[in-house]
Amino acid sequence: MTETNKVRVLGIVGSPRRGGNTEILVDEVLAGAKEAGAETYKIFLNDLKIGHCQGCNACSDKGQCKYKDDMEIINEEMRKSTAFVYGTPVYYWGPTSLFKAFFDRLLATSRLGYIKGKKLAFVVPLGGSEPVARHTIGMMTDAGNYRRAEIVGQVVSPSTGDAGVIKQKQDKLKEAFELGKKLV
Ligand SMILES: Cc1cc2nc3c(=O)[nH]c(=O)nc-3n(C[C@H](O)[C@H](O)[C@H](O)COP(=O)(O)O)c2cc1C
Repeated sequence: MTETNKVRVLGIVGSPRRGGNTEILVDEVLAGAKEAGAETYKIFLNDLKIGHCQGCNACSDKGQCKYKDDMEIINEEMRKSTAFVYGTPVYYWGPTSLFKAFFDRLLATSRLGYIKGKKLAFVVPLGGSEPVARHTIGMMTDAGNYRRAEIVGQVVSPSTGDAGVIKQKQDKLKEAFELGKKLV
């Protein structure tokens, strides 16, 4: 529970495209969570300045990253949240570099204790027909398990290339909405 004693679900959008497929899917997950009674909040990574992890391991002690950038905003939102939905499109078989920069910086976030035991879901659109997006989903799954989050599910949407085309895939929107309920 959060300070307001409510389940709170944080959505992370790792696509640079506003109103793109990733954001639409994250919005659906958050709508499902809201219907199930959660507070929701969304972060559009492209609005923030997040430097690359330098591997200095300064966070190994108390989880404090030596960089003072917008990752502090994200950490505070993650601290207040009880569940997360991570969204990234597939870019060259993996996540966007925007998402990966955020993801590497979660090393400090996890050491602060803001991930362990919390619910986690993924949404991944991609232009190609590969039905599982195995590298992107594999990376998020393995890291989620390593950080001892509770992974509740994922929505992968192949053949979803043009911005907003996901709106025509009612089955995927419904899947995302139902996934949101599982985060509560
Ligand atoms: C730089 C770049 C690389 C991409 N690489 C892949 C890829 O490897 N496999 C794939 O299926 N789609 C790839 N795509 C297509 C995107 O995954 C697809 O357009 C997705 O819907 C974008 O999500 P968005 O609307 O949230 O930005 C790529 C798109 C871009 C711009």
